[in-house]
Amino acid sequence: MKAKAKANTNIALIKYWGKRDNELILPMNSSISITLDGFYTITSVEFKEDLKNDIFILNNKETEDKEQKKISRFLDVVRGLSGTKLYAEVNSENKVPTAAGFASSASGFAALACASSKAAGLNLSERELSMLARRGSGSACRSIFGGYVKWEKGEKLEGTDSHGVRLLSEKDWDISILSVMVASGKKKVSSREGMKRTVETSPFYSGWLDTVEKDIKIAEEAIRLKDFYSLGNIAEENALKMHATMLGAKPPVLYWENGTLEVMRHIQNLRESGIPAFFTIDAGANVKVLCLKENENMVYESLLKLSSVMKVLVCHPGSGVTYLE
Ligand code: PMV
Repeated sequence: MKAKAKANTNIALIKYWGKRDNELILPMNSSISITLDGFYTITSVEFKEDLKNDIFILNNKETEDKEQKKISRFLDVVRGLSGTKLYAEVNSENKVPTAAGFASSASGFAALACASSKAAGLNLSERELSMLARRGSGSACRSIFGGYVKWEKGEKLEGTDSHGVRLLSEKDWDISILSVMVASGKKKVSSREGMKRTVETSPFYSGWLDTVEKDIKIAEEAIRLKDFYSLGNIAEENALKMHATMLGAKPPVLYWENGTLEVMRHIQNLRESGIPAFFTIDAGANVKVLCLKENENMVYESLLKLSSVMKVLVCHPGSGVTYLE
């Protein structure tokens, strides 16, 4: 009863922002992302007769109570599906630099869904794996698939139609995604709390819901046509709109730092000078820049010259989950 899997993280171009069911992690809106190469989690899971509770080791260290509980709650879902009563030892190696502003929960729960279900004797399809990963962290359901992925929000109460689907393979369209780290402290509001507060208190949230499915359609069409300008443009608009909804929350949620704004302005200036580059920002201060491969070096060098930029990491579309054992 042992298995090992590897999953890459992903970056959303049309964001998942707001849950309609907090327990099953069902979203208010569909979202679209790119699974990235280079930033991943490798997780092995072994269900054992002699364990009295689940054990979670992250990067060779036993984790805190809060982390252990999250993993145990997830393993309860796997135990429910498979019928096993055994506890598991979970060993994770995270190659997602936390400071890079990528959600390690996406790659983490995608790898855990694969390794734990296989170790428990389940033989799940990609779609079922995606629904299982969703129970750990919403964005994880997209990391099961490689390349360009849509998370269909679904309609059903029990969530059996809320999962990722592949739109385009990573091999079909290579673009550059630059993760730009700016000076900032630890963020004070988690994405989970930020989206909850927005749904419950922001008068702008209804405007998000009224328009986000149209953004999805534009992004889907841009991916189908490999129209970089159209995809980048709608991604930038959608990210700004998501942040606008949070500014209206009570109390307001503001993730941006001075450096965030410096990078945003820089990208808009690059565009005015004829370079097709766009930005997107998740629930944090760091910025992700999208550009064409032919402009990657130039955009990279220009970002490093900004006073608030500490580091720039370059990624490309990457593969979905793989079993290692
Ligand atoms: O899946 P979570 O709980 O890490 O939330 C992700 C929220 C955003 O990163 C802001 C948007 C997204 O679609 O990934």
